[in-house]
Amino acid sequence: MKETQKAAAKQPESLIRIENLSKHYIVMKTGPTRKIVIDAVKKISFELFANESLGLIGESGSGKTTTANMIMKMIQPSEGRIHLFGKDITDIDESRMRPLRKDIQIIFQHARSAMDPHMTIGELLREPLNIHHIVPEKKIDEEVNRLLSLVGLTPAEKHKFPSQLSGGQNQRILIARAIATRPRVIVCDEPVSALDVSVQGQILNLLKKLKQELNLTYLFISTI
Ligand SMILES: Nc1ncnc2c1ncn2[C@@H]1O[C@H](COP(=O)(O)OP(=O)(O)O)[C@@H](O)[C@H]1O
Ligand SMILES: [Mg+2]
Repeated sequence: MKETQKAAAKQPESLIRIENLSKHYIVMKTGPTRKIVIDAVKKISFELFANESLGLIGESGSGKTTTANMIMKMIQPSEGRIHLFGKDITDIDESRMRPLRKDIQIIFQHARSAMDPHMTIGELLREPLNIHHIVPEKKIDEEVNRLLSLVGLTPAEKHKFPSQLSGGQNQRILIARAIATRPRVIVCDEPVSALDVSVQGQILNLLKKLKQELNLTYLFISTI
């Protein structure tokens, strides 16, 4: 191998790169100053490489979730660029974004509100497997059991609804849904802040274990 090829092979792969990303909201109020501009995010830039963990830390209201939502293309930035897996996705439409969604997942703070309360745990785990065709149809049940075991739960939970599980168990289900698509990177938006302190450590340990076992990269959001 030539020296230049060696150098290229060593270069860590950039999974997320954001450049001068901003989001303004215009809010209408009554009174003399009717139009207020809220700078939810102002010119944030960072790069996350494969197998790293990057912490995005800030006070409540500092724009962390807005940044995560822009990276996931759930909201459109006002300014700046977003690159995923080396590709500029800032202006691509949903049909071109959909195939990339398998490789980037998000875990929210409130597991219960992120999941349909009318679906059983089994159905909630089958959903991402079906959407992204992760395993053949006849292997889906086996895969659901494997996911439950990866997050420290048993197949017995499959027939329950989110309301029948504890906060920590629901967060484990949300994590299982995120890893179901075998993503490369997971955005963890305050994944333990809504949990009892005694459970927070268990979920953080689970995320640490999964990172190693599944070769994951994390953008880890936390409040100061
Ligand atoms: N849809 C919206 N319309 C107006 N203001 C918003 C909207 N979403 C978020 N904001 C404001 O943007 C700021 C950043 O919010 P957010 O990203 O949720 O912060 P964090 O996740 O760091 O707590 C806050 O002041 C919030 O009130
Ligand atoms: Mg937030």
